[in-house]
Amino acid sequence: MTPQTSLAARTAEQQTSPDLQWWRDAVVYQVYPRSFADSDGDGMGDLPGVTARLPYLRDLGVDAIWLSPFYTSPQKDGGYDVSDYQDVDPRFGSLSDADEMIARAHELGLKVIVDIVPNHSSDQHVLFQQALAAGPGSPERDMYVFADGKGENGELPPNNWTSIFHGQAWTRITEADGTPGQWYLHIFDTSQPDWNWENPRVHELFQDVLRFWLDRGADGFRVDVAHGMIKPEGLPDATVNSAGLIDIPEGEVPIYFDNDGVLDIYREWRPILDSYEGDRMMVLEAWIPEHRLPLYIGDEKAHQSFNFGFLQARWGVETMRAAIEKPLALADAVGSPTTWVLSNHDVIRHASRYGFAPDYEFGEGLRRDEIPDAELGLRRARAATLLMLSLPGSAYLYQGEELGLPEVSDIPDELREDPSHLRAGVPGRDGCRVPLPWTQDAPGYGFSPTGKSWLPQPEAFGPLAADAQDGVEGSTLEMYRTAVHLRRELGLGRPDAAVVFAEDLPAGVLGVIRGDVTILVNTTDAQVELPASSVAGDLASAEVLVASAPTSPGTVPADTAVWLRTS
Ligand code: NOJ
Repeated sequence: MTPQTSLAARTAEQQTSPDLQWWRDAVVYQVYPRSFADSDGDGMGDLPGVTARLPYLRDLGVDAIWLSPFYTSPQKDGGYDVSDYQDVDPRFGSLSDADEMIARAHELGLKVIVDIVPNHSSDQHVLFQQALAAGPGSPERDMYVFADGKGENGELPPNNWTSIFHGQAWTRITEADGTPGQWYLHIFDTSQPDWNWENPRVHELFQDVLRFWLDRGADGFRVDVAHGMIKPEGLPDATVNSAGLIDIPEGEVPIYFDNDGVLDIYREWRPILDSYEGDRMMVLEAWIPEHRLPLYIGDEKAHQSFNFGFLQARWGVETMRAAIEKPLALADAVGSPTTWVLSNHDVIRHASRYGFAPDYEFGEGLRRDEIPDAELGLRRARAATLLMLSLPGSAYLYQGEELGLPEVSDIPDELREDPSHLRAGVPGRDGCRVPLPWTQDAPGYGFSPTGKSWLPQPEAFGPLAADAQDGVEGSTLEMYRTAVHLRRELGLGRPDAAVVFAEDLPAGVLGVIRGDVTILVNTTDAQVELPASSVAGDLASAEVLVASAPTSPGTVPADTAVWLRTS
């Protein structure tokens, strides 16, 4: 197949290798439902919007979609505050819309991964409301982590834990009789109380949730805060540093994460997934120290965990090489391929990240006065994507990265919804969640039939709209399409195919040899000449399969990646 292959041929070829469990080398496209496509005109994306755009994703060549939560939710944290795990929020549609979306995806050969949020619910969940109404010590209250406060009258929080979204991790309630009462734990927003996983009823509840979505055809789960759930016994204070702040040594995690008990949850879930046909899987969102990964992954535990090291790697040969070598070694150790990610709904989009100096210290989101070099950012982002898609294991794409969308930094504060922004005034994550541009010349860039959009889209989105890039040689969309299809055709995602680094390349060039395909990334700001003789063979006259920028024979331009066929 050549990069120009027809769509029909692409589709037929899309099936994953029959001898490989589909998730091991899958390209998975993350849909953030509220910002993907709006069918009913309210300015918020929805499930019928996703269904209508599935052919676009099929043509992109991905194997699966992962949808961020679309369940009933007050939307205090973009749906990661679930009030009913077994229903669809009316903003996003209905259960039958979900069924239709899953069925249509399957017809098109796409697997569907849904999000599961087991660490916390919404404070509007009926069980939390019942816990509030029932008194201290009641079975209802025992579904969540409630504790008496310290101090003479319980006026101080039970311990010194702070929330990932800033501020205290505890909120005091008013008891049903109007008196100040117990405190409940929320590692995230006040509106997201933590479940009490010491209670067997919580285990049962989530087993039911798993079965509910497996029965409806979900092929897998992305597990939110997968290293949370089990808190240390006795809820002890965390150690504080000399500044009085909670001390989290480099490479470590807060005291309430990564406690051993959490592993039992995966041992409990795995047989449930295995009892269904079709390689149902779970991928963990677990920000844990590397040496802990083998404890989470395996035949009786979870299938995969996100590897965020590649996303965090600075632009440069050594940093990027290390971010490839480490997870590959770990993958060997755990017997499960790694996952590659450059963007998601929680981080600054990589087209903007790379527009800053490699040693730039990012905060939470981009402030309006933090202005990237947009051209350089996109150029490097495209190169990094080509590198990522050449690596063995699964690759997770975030909606809009295939269009080269930048982070939006000038969202008016009053329109921002991220709880971190509301709690601490940081810009937060809304900048990577702006609704997608589908049609350059339509109101709201075709996101919604009315032109409405829950966050304003910047003018820069116009030329990046999907229709403006469709069929345009050299566009970011066409580069993604070509690379995703070639990756499958060439078997680059296959976890058993070797990765060899080429050591004899010009300075500043990263070289990865995958059989007769060599991937080069020129990280310098000048064009390099390729050698006719190297460990990878004759690179000077090798065939260019795909490039992140226009190339001339025997050269790689600055900040550019190429895939070369050497024989
Ligand atoms: C991780 C999710 O990706 C993020 O969006 C969310 O805010 C937190 N977990 C809390 O659920």
